[in-house]
Amino acid sequence: MAVAVRKFDAVIVGAGGAGLRAAIQLSEAGLRTAVISKVFPTRSHTVAAQGGVAASLGNSEEDHWHWHMYDTVKGSDWLGDQDAIEFMCRKANEVVIELEHYGMPFDRLDNGRIYQRPFGGHMSNFGEKPVARSCAAADRTGHAMLHALYQRNIKANTHFFTEWMALDLIRDEDGDVLGVTALEMETGEVVAFHARATIFATGGAGRIYHSSTNAFINTGDGLGMAARAGIPLEDMEFWQFHPTGVAGAGVLITEGVRGEGGILRNAQGERFMERYAPNAKDLASRDVVSRAMVTEINEGRGCGPNKDFVLLDITHLKPETIMKRLPGIHEISLRFAGVDPIRAPIPVVPTCHFQMGGIPINYRGQVVAPKSGSPEVPVPGFYAAGECSCSSVHGANRLGTNSLLELLVFGKSAGETAVNDLRMGRREHKPLPKEAIDRTLARLSRLENQKDGADVHETRLAMQRVMQKHAGVFRFKDLLEEGVTEIMKVADQVKMAQINDKSRVFNTARIEALELDNLIEVAKATMVSAEARKESRGAHVRDDAPDTPEHPDGRDDDNWIKHTLWYSEGNRLDYKPVHLDPLTVESFPPKKRSY
Ligand code: FUM
Repeated sequence: MAVAVRKFDAVIVGAGGAGLRAAIQLSEAGLRTAVISKVFPTRSHTVAAQGGVAASLGNSEEDHWHWHMYDTVKGSDWLGDQDAIEFMCRKANEVVIELEHYGMPFDRLDNGRIYQRPFGGHMSNFGEKPVARSCAAADRTGHAMLHALYQRNIKANTHFFTEWMALDLIRDEDGDVLGVTALEMETGEVVAFHARATIFATGGAGRIYHSSTNAFINTGDGLGMAARAGIPLEDMEFWQFHPTGVAGAGVLITEGVRGEGGILRNAQGERFMERYAPNAKDLASRDVVSRAMVTEINEGRGCGPNKDFVLLDITHLKPETIMKRLPGIHEISLRFAGVDPIRAPIPVVPTCHFQMGGIPINYRGQVVAPKSGSPEVPVPGFYAAGECSCSSVHGANRLGTNSLLELLVFGKSAGETAVNDLRMGRREHKPLPKEAIDRTLARLSRLENQKDGADVHETRLAMQRVMQKHAGVFRFKDLLEEGVTEIMKVADQVKMAQINDKSRVFNTARIEALELDNLIEVAKATMVSAEARKESRGAHVRDDAPDTPEHPDGRDDDNWIKHTLWYSEGNRLDYKPVHLDPLTVESFPPKKRSY
């Protein structure tokens, strides 16, 4: 089958915040830039980000990037790379003001400055008390951000390929990245996008879990493509469970609700976070709050007939405040919980929300992988940003609103680095290797012709159930070991998965099958990495690694301050050092984490 080739200077996969921010950098530098997206850009999952973007602007109280850096290192449970964290926190004000100049409709204080609200784990003066650091557009910050970034791209003449799915990364025999193969979803046409720079900004893979705040499109496409092309995935054992998903529906209720004064209560009406985090209370970091909620439920203090959720109470806030600052939450509560939050508390449970790990990058946005004895060498022509990447600014646990910040800072940084690399070298397109396209065609043909294989939908459900049971908020040695065996069984089914004849009537059947190839890579990486990390840290808490005086919070700092690297080939693990040295300031050494 002949496959058309389209040449661009740069191809970006994903049109969420990170992809759009990177594209601005390239298009405004006059480079021909293609952005490939499964959905219309302003429907990318960034649209679901509610509460804000972190920056120490200090608009309503004193703040400092160094305090933000400390909070992020502490939130990461000392697994974050401190050079990347310093870079991100120092850049925060610049990228937020830039966004304001692109036309982002932030809420305003009476003096006209950008409105900021408190968020979990963000504190003043190195952990003293919560600080208002999250720059917000009501509770629709991601939505507003996508529109501002998309419009700027239209002005800059970025080429959009909407409803196209990238299929495989193209690498040559030197390991250089030369673009991707992609499928036009409506027609089924396969095209090779041949580029001098390839940037992945494909977002997360929260759909490996059964209960998730993530959109259906969040299927880890970038991670699957990278893993199949021999790039390792970093720190995939760390998954964030957002404390407040609507019970039974999973839809996100922003942490901004607690930033505006919302309180979590158990069946006895008790504000239980006072026992778990006496200082920050409901605004402790997410891993701490999620575990407290699950403990309340497990110990019988959950609400409802099955005692399986807790309540988020904002009935004490003025209705005007709720309608001005949290209009989207008002609507979500009515639609998904059947509750008017002005009058009654919202039923909530921790729900899978964010992957801290991903495709390894440095703070310049270059994808890095071990080569010839060095733990991280840039892969020529390959960049990544946003949730699909691991810089690793979040380490073992992300702070709320650092995700929108991450995608702005590293989207810009990946774009800037690519522009420089294209100007300094890589002036010509290297020839495309023929086998790269053949591999994609073989995968498509296998899917179309597979007989007597497992049903795609059933197989995806089996994967989600294994992940939910074996790698949840609390992790257990036996369940993790069993989970590795179970997920490998599902992976064997995926290799033989077939598009069910009944589902062929829907034009999404082929896409769902292709997505499953990506999801299963992420699921395997998560389970294998989690079973192997024999300590508790951040979002990864094991029953056999409890809090003791020698191991505060269950961490084993002597042996486990290191990043996991998982390779698809051979289902193999390796490790690399954490960057403990920041760029200009002193390192924050590990200590017990309390809020
Ligand atoms: O709670 C929220 O609004 C989510 C924000 C985030 O994940 O950063």
